[in-house]
Amino acid sequence: MKRTHHCNELRPADAGRPVVLEGWVHSRRDLGGVLFLDIRDREGRTQTVFDPSDLPPELFNRASHLHSESVVRVTGLVRLRPGGTENAKIATGQMEVLAKDMEVLNDAAVLPFSIDDPEIANKVNEELRLQYRYLDLRRPEMTRNLRIRSKVAIATRSHMDEQGFLEVETPTLFKSTPEGAREFLVPNRREPGTFYALPQSPQQFKQILMVSGVERYFQLARCYRDEDLRADRQPEFTQVDIEMSFIDREDIYALIEGLLKRVWKTALGMDIPTPFKRISFHEALDRWGIDKPDTRFGMELADFTEEFRDSTFKVFSGAIAAGGVVKAMNAKGLAGATQGQIETMTEYAKGFGAKGLAYIKVENGEWKSPIVKFFSEAAKAALTAKLGIEQGDLILFAADQWLNACEILGKIRLYCADVLKTQGKLTIDPQRFDFLWVVDFPLLSYDKEMNRWYSSHHPFTAPVAEDIGLLKSDPKKVRGQHYDIVVNGVELGGGSIRIHQPDLQRTIFEDVLQIPPEETQLRFGYMLEAFKYGAPPHGGIALGFDRLCAILCGTTSIRDVIAFPKTAKGTCLMTDSPSPVSARQLKDLHIEVKAAVKP
Ligand code: AMO
Ligand code: AMP
Repeated sequence: MKRTHHCNELRPADAGRPVVLEGWVHSRRDLGGVLFLDIRDREGRTQTVFDPSDLPPELFNRASHLHSESVVRVTGLVRLRPGGTENAKIATGQMEVLAKDMEVLNDAAVLPFSIDDPEIANKVNEELRLQYRYLDLRRPEMTRNLRIRSKVAIATRSHMDEQGFLEVETPTLFKSTPEGAREFLVPNRREPGTFYALPQSPQQFKQILMVSGVERYFQLARCYRDEDLRADRQPEFTQVDIEMSFIDREDIYALIEGLLKRVWKTALGMDIPTPFKRISFHEALDRWGIDKPDTRFGMELADFTEEFRDSTFKVFSGAIAAGGVVKAMNAKGLAGATQGQIETMTEYAKGFGAKGLAYIKVENGEWKSPIVKFFSEAAKAALTAKLGIEQGDLILFAADQWLNACEILGKIRLYCADVLKTQGKLTIDPQRFDFLWVVDFPLLSYDKEMNRWYSSHHPFTAPVAEDIGLLKSDPKKVRGQHYDIVVNGVELGGGSIRIHQPDLQRTIFEDVLQIPPEETQLRFGYMLEAFKYGAPPHGGIALGFDRLCAILCGTTSIRDVIAFPKTAKGTCLMTDSPSPVSARQLKDLHIEVKAAVKP
């Protein structure tokens, strides 16, 4: 006997039909001697009824003693549930199957946690869920996430295929190159002391594929970065990696807008409006204090440098005299914050380099603040006008160099939004998606400790053509042809138009980034060589596929959309990796381990 229906299939028209269901015992209830087993499979649930007057005693007894999650095959007759016992919450809720026979395909041991609880993610600690990931994945919420991920992957492939892209796989045993994060290394048994590195992205291969004449490449590529992990970062993750020849930035914007339109329609049935808004890096920092602004709520930053230039409040006028700015934001409705809460916020800001966090509470018709006595009437009027100050508001200030002041208030803005959300004063429609292109990033950033410039994105990003002349004279003014795609405050992806002229690429490596010529040759020699033989102009982008799926699934943690994710410490609790290896293996690899491995 084979399964005839899945567990989300039976409807009133099926009444009277003999059926065979296979699946897991989701729950068991005993009502007045009659037994109800809910059978669950990937698609849903169906109620089965075991009536002792209608079944051999040993079969009924076996059914009565089944543990949850045992695997069974139930044969029976479909019937309508008696009036009043329907369950409107499930698709098969009008129906049940009167069991005639049952086979236990496998008994389940007592579970480490109940999976029949929609609140489980809040109740059971995530480590236990990760240790028993196969049970966690049986939960309908997780099955749904895997399903969305699969649909999005397939829609992506179809879309890219229709747009003329070739899916090309690139090696995951690669060469060590400094592209940003720390790398995972793989020792080479054949030549002691040499290593492969796992790629942080297929960046160099995809550029080489352009030299190969592929013209339009994409890949759902696995990438590896040994960096500090957070909810939106895993040591291995997936990118929708893209590269195109003979294009400019507009082509990339149009391609990604089309792809995301397709993906949102497939996963959520939603039509998202395109083209997306574009803002410069400078505007993003200036208004929201971050290069990936969440524009679904206000509390934008405003500038008061002119108003406080000659202020008697030296904290402000002093910062301005030192070349800085005074910026402020209005945390609407947070005037009720206690002194303790303001101190916590100040400490939080100091963690990001703030020297303090001046504030004004607007309560009972008064501006309550230790510093307001220093403010001129003109400054107060400007604050009221630019920040729309009303009763109940909390105004927060940062006086510092422009970038610091913006970034500090940017963090505080998100902090305040979280507080307002928990207080129920800020609600965001879960169906709202604010897409943004952030453009005109500085090509280079300065590392004060190392006393040198480094690439804001990566060293292959092309400068904006009219800024090339400034590369040596005024590097900080050079804009890169780099773009990030941001949605709801999440950096979904980033890319750039690349340098395709070997001379310019060498100048960037050696003169601007000051990588010694021998090292340039060692690490990038093959690329510079390839570029000599007719490299077309090209550019591309990579979307974080896990982040994309997390947004579509309505979760903030990419662990929820990865079948077997790692913990914040980079471990897999189910397989217990990483783990020690045998002395023999180490010997083969010519590796001696100095630090003791904890048992
Ligand atoms: P970038 O480093 O910006 O660009 O990465 C592109 C996107 O990949 C995602 N991402 C991550 N997702 C999960 N865990 C991580 N640890 C992680 N790190 C990055 C983000 C990010 O926006 N080669 C370039 C792209 C290009 O220039 O074409 C690159 O990798 O969503
Ligand atoms: P002080 O005069 O140092 O006691 O500071 C008075 C108020 O200004 C306190 O609330 C400080 O937190 C705040 N403050 C100090 N430095 C800064 C700064 N650079 N930016 C914003 N607020 C500051």
